Amino acid sequence: MIRPPFFLARRFVAGETLPEAIEVVRRLNDRGLSASLDILGENVKDPAAVRAARDDYVGLLDEIARTGVDSNISIKLTMLGLDVGEAFCEENLHVVLSAGRERRTFVRIDMEGSRYTQATLDLFHRVLPAYGSASDGRGAGVGVVIQSYLYRSAADVQRLNEARARVRLVKGAYKEPPEVAFPARDDVNRSYDELMRELLAGGAYPAIATHDDERITRTRTFAAERGIPVSAYEFQMLYGIRRRLQETLAAQGHPVRVYVPYGRDWFPYFYRRLRERKENVAFVARNLFRE
Ligand code: FDA
Repeated sequence: MIRPPFFLARRFVAGETLPEAIEVVRRLNDRGLSASLDILGENVKDPAAVRAARDDYVGLLDEIARTGVDSNISIKLTMLGLDVGEAFCEENLHVVLSAGRERRTFVRIDMEGSRYTQATLDLFHRVLPAYGSASDGRGAGVGVVIQSYLYRSAADVQRLNEARARVRLVKGAYKEPPEVAFPARDDVNRSYDELMRELLAGGAYPAIATHDDERITRTRTFAAERGIPVSAYEFQMLYGIRRRLQETLAAQGHPVRVYVPYGRDWFPYFYRRLRERKENVAFVARNLFRE
């Protein structure tokens, strides 16, 4: 596939550089939204490039501290050497988590394709005791992501709740075979609702990450029924998607965090966002035509 010019990705990607991304976060903060900054890139296989990515994450933490913006960070273990080896990845992960702890900034480990699920959770459970997971949503610590399309996720959530881990719940963005993931959208949604209830009732400051109105309504209803305050969980959405809904929820008193990706390696992320919704392809095509 031909790589399109960056301006087409601008709706979903904050910029190709860190200063552009910080500017976007400032604007979100002004609108009552917090952020999670993500350096785009995945599957880095050269050890020198992995160390450079690790240093970029530390640089990002420095810049958040220096500018005082309200943002934590999201990281990918395949940028920290998971394809090179688990021990190598763990070393690099410690460097990033220590930097997060020193700067009092929370670090979320994104979840990638199913071939990485077990290794990601193993590494997460290994580092969790050293860095913790602030359960009030503030402060440093480490968290992870669970995808409702995977059959295994109910068991994973149970173990994470027992460990008092902070979990972001998503539907899942990768193309997975029916051996590991629900092929039908209804099943993915049903699983999402079940996991949401488990996390709200027994987890530590879960993040309900979705743009799906029905999932959001069910979350609010369940929390209200159980007397769970809005400050005990947060909603998360992606930069550029359902912006009005983000602001509406924030105005109603819900903590809302926007995932803000930036960097030069934006194509795989952009492609996942296009694949999720055919209207996005039309949107990009219209802009291309306009230029
Ligand atoms: P769904 O796809 O059913 O969409 C519901 C509605 O939201 C749509 O009808 C539309 O209105 C809107 N919408 C959704 N996607 C859109 C798009 N691309 N463009 C425009 N409108 C759109 N995945 C993963 O595998 N690992 C991870 O670590 C993360 N991390 C992550 C963080 C955050 C903060 C979010 C919000 C999402 C992720 N994801 C993720 C992605 C997630 O798995 C999923 O692919 C997307 O959130 C889309 O699913 P929805 O829950 O929004 O529902």
